[in-house]
Amino acid sequence: MTIFKFMEKTMKLISSLTLITLSTFTLFASDSATLKDVTQKGESSTKLLLQTLGKNMKMHMKHGGAIEALDFCTQEAQNLTGDVNKKLPEGVSVRRITLKTRNPMNMPTDDEAKVLEELQKEQKSDKSLPKHIIKQVGKGTYKFYKPLVITNPVCLKCHGDIQDNKLKTEISNRYPEDKAIHYKMGDLRGAIVTTVKK
Ligand code: HEC
Repeated sequence: MTIFKFMEKTMKLISSLTLITLSTFTLFASDSATLKDVTQKGESSTKLLLQTLGKNMKMHMKHGGAIEALDFCTQEAQNLTGDVNKKLPEGVSVRRITLKTRNPMNMPTDDEAKVLEELQKEQKSDKSLPKHIIKQVGKGTYKFYKPLVITNPVCLKCHGDIQDNKLKTEISNRYPEDKAIHYKMGDLRGAIVTTVKK
């Protein structure tokens, strides 16, 4: 190979490498912008749902105790979730999911159940849980998962080893298939999942 040919080959290599680097960078840049957008939408939808349900639950607990709060959950949790969804930007929806349901409406889909199982495994092995998980589920569709851990003892009134017999009977009358009991502080209750369609 003449020195000239060698130089030419080297230059070609350098320019194709530059192209590859550039296109990787562009891809990476657009991906990180998408992830940032999904994260921001996921965080704000999660917050809105948890705040809405939490605020109302607290109010009923204070006003009429666990039985009134139970009535509220039974009658209003799904309606309020619907109201929150109406306030979200187009293409964004949010719901609660769990592997141990009380209300079968909160059953995860197969792909969601897999993520919950992953989280459950991590939690059992005492690893700290990720702040969130993002999965792409189709072209331009993402699911943002926020793990939901029991950190407030009030949750155990209705999801722990229920002490109050009246409450226990009321719950099993309304939810004969109830699996959402015997939780302890620090247990993974489920997740809030935000679906973002772009
Ligand atoms: C007064 C009783 C009561 C208390 C207290 C309570 N829950 Fe619930 N919870 C319910 C009922 C009833 C449902 C089923 C109705 C629904 O929300 O769809 C439910 C459903 C849920 C669900 C949806 C999944 C499923 O199993 O259907 C999650 C997640 C949940 N609760 C988490 C919590 C957390 C976290 C706390 C504490 C901050 C809490 N709950 C406190 C009664 C209660």
